[in-house]
Amino acid sequence: MSKRRATIEIPSLHGIDRSAHVGRRLAQALRHAIACGELRPGERLPSTRSLAASLKIARGTVVEAFDQLTAEGYLEARVGAGTRVAAALTDMASVLPPPPPAPASAEAMELPAPAARLMPIARALTPHPPVPFAIAVPASGIAPDDNWRRVGNRMRASRRAAPAGYHDPMGVLELRIAIADHVRRARAVHCEPEQVIVTSGTQQGLYMAGRVLLSRDDPVWSEDPAYPGLTAVLDDLGVRTHRIPVDAQGINVERGLELCPEARAAFVTPSHQYPVGMPLSMARRNALIAWAEQNRAWIVEDDYDSELRYAGHPFPSMQGLRPSRVIYLGTFSKVLFPSLRLGYVIAPAPLAEAFAGARAILDRHSPISEQHVLAAYIREGYFEAHIRRIRGLYAERRAVLLAALERVLPEGCHVQPSDQGMHILLWLPKEADDVRLAGRALSAGLAVRAISPMYGAQPARPGLMLGFGGFPQEQLQAAVAELAKLLHRSS
Ligand SMILES: Cc1ncc(COP(=O)(O)O)c(C=O)c1O
Repeated sequence: MSKRRATIEIPSLHGIDRSAHVGRRLAQALRHAIACGELRPGERLPSTRSLAASLKIARGTVVEAFDQLTAEGYLEARVGAGTRVAAALTDMASVLPPPPPAPASAEAMELPAPAARLMPIARALTPHPPVPFAIAVPASGIAPDDNWRRVGNRMRASRRAAPAGYHDPMGVLELRIAIADHVRRARAVHCEPEQVIVTSGTQQGLYMAGRVLLSRDDPVWSEDPAYPGLTAVLDDLGVRTHRIPVDAQGINVERGLELCPEARAAFVTPSHQYPVGMPLSMARRNALIAWAEQNRAWIVEDDYDSELRYAGHPFPSMQGLRPSRVIYLGTFSKVLFPSLRLGYVIAPAPLAEAFAGARAILDRHSPISEQHVLAAYIREGYFEAHIRRIRGLYAERRAVLLAALERVLPEGCHVQPSDQGMHILLWLPKEADDVRLAGRALSAGLAVRAISPMYGAQPARPGLMLGFGGFPQEQLQAAVAELAKLLHRSS
């Protein structure tokens, strides 16, 4: 008899969403099954092993759910007699309020409109695994390096660097002073520490700029193609985005003036257009500033990797040309490492407090101890030395990648000229399916990003972004050989 009972079916359990928090969902579904009489007092449950097998979940998860319900009095376990619905529930069943039904899978639930909009963003912004040619992977062993660890240990051990209370949302003053010095020297940015707001990276800086500068339905310009993290922010803010094509000189300001001269802001990547890679020409910079001045519009300058320049003289920042109209965004993700989650906004002085407000309602501020560590790392000269070191290393890796590609590229593929950053762009023939190719590459252990989904209005051009910073020469060469096979097969 016990054998027959051990195979008892509880059909409602098969509807639980197994994507996350399975133990909690299983416990809730069991409570529901008991309350609505699907499982009756005294009835014996399947063994944890067979239930785990039939639901295709870990046995430990079932054990945890059973333990929880035993502790709550829903179930009782006796050695040798398995787990049963508590007999004492005979009288309670009729008085227990029926718990809400177990949550069904996301597809079956009616989701709020913002949730449905945000889910694909999580997928689109999920980072690649650290295999060639993932973009945001820093050189292993070099970032973070031993100096970072030493300074970190020292600072975190000091009382001053780890206060227990809340802090100013603008950030730690020592770090804001260090950032202001750095951008003044390296990027000709005009600023005082009072204009620096520490962020958890440029992603947050973009969102804050949107919150401070724009209202729902305001028209804005963004480049076409553009960084998906930016397009997601603009969609989320509910503004009207006009995608302005980029050409060999960067964003085509004349086209922007034709499409929507009354835009309130332009979001641009002037020193290294993302994803294509060209800098914005001086003539276009001047035209963009003239437009912003005339229309009292704002320029949001995303300067994500300008420290990593391998040839020639960089254009100074746009902020330096017109500090009153430009919001400058910088990050330590490329030049140090992205898991640090520290960056900065340099705002025109009258807007600094508003940016601090935007920061405060998001998450108040970044961890204080990490800000002190970074301030000391910069102040003690390690940051400058680190930049010089990785610039040399990444330049070598980039040269190896370009040379290896040149030897194997099929006709119709070519590399976009550019001399900055941690990635290059490989253009594919017009008819190529870059998304499919990126999927196949991932199965072959290569992480490339397709750029056609980064286009808005104009016909998308297929291409692949190849990151090189995190991978030694031999690994890059082997990866290029593998990529070449895929390219030849699909050409
Ligand atoms: C163009 C561009 N802007 C912003 C970001 C976001 O950087 P962060 O890690 O500082 O949020 C990235 C990251 O790859 C980027 O490529």
